[in-house]
Amino acid sequence: MAKISPSSNPEREENLVNYVLELQSMGADFMHMDIMDGKFVENTCLSHEIVKNVDSSCDIPLDVHLMVENPRYHIPLYIEAGADIVTIHYESYENITDLIDDIKLIKSNGVRAGISINPATPVSSISTILSMVDMVLVMSVVPGKSGQKFIESSLDKIRELKDLIDENGYLITIEVDGGVNLENASSIVSSGADMLVMGSALYKAENRKFVIDTIHSL
Ligand code: DX5
Ligand code: ZN
Repeated sequence: MAKISPSSNPEREENLVNYVLELQSMGADFMHMDIMDGKFVENTCLSHEIVKNVDSSCDIPLDVHLMVENPRYHIPLYIEAGADIVTIHYESYENITDLIDDIKLIKSNGVRAGISINPATPVSSISTILSMVDMVLVMSVVPGKSGQKFIESSLDKIRELKDLIDENGYLITIEVDGGVNLENASSIVSSGADMLVMGSALYKAENRKFVIDTIHSL
């Protein structure tokens, strides 16, 4: 069974709690909270206050995706806000030591740590830190906004990552984010993904429950 983590991104911030409550009642597994600082990516969206508000109003676990230049500043704020998973970007760091320190910082608070790679970043760049993380988030679009087209070569990266995880016997969730819809979900899951982020395809769907149930059936 594949899991679904709907993206916060398409919904307006003032209506986010209602959107999350609706998806929670429909059986979504996590809520994917997209945090953008206007520096790592051009857009700015969400804040720890909004995440905290969602956390206090909803029961669904929160999967926080930090698209920020300086994760060390943001990590404690989102842990405090109630994140269940905090994912940082490989590309946010100039050196691996700082990245490892931040993974440790997340985990020392009892929160699951994810590492994300952009479409241009090879899987090999994170092979040495895989043993430390709980999740890898494979970006299948260039991060920054919802509604972009899925980059097909992401399927090869997912397969490569899945093989690496299995060869080493790691217990790591593979999450895929960007351009996921009901047409491509099955090939993404058969390539090795465990959890699909879905933004616009779910937001625009006439029957959101059907979309969630279909992902669960994969
Ligand atoms: C992209 C964000 C995604 C995005 C997904 O930068 O990280 O989570 O909102 O939206 P869709 O599914 O529309 O690509
Ligand atoms: Zn995201």
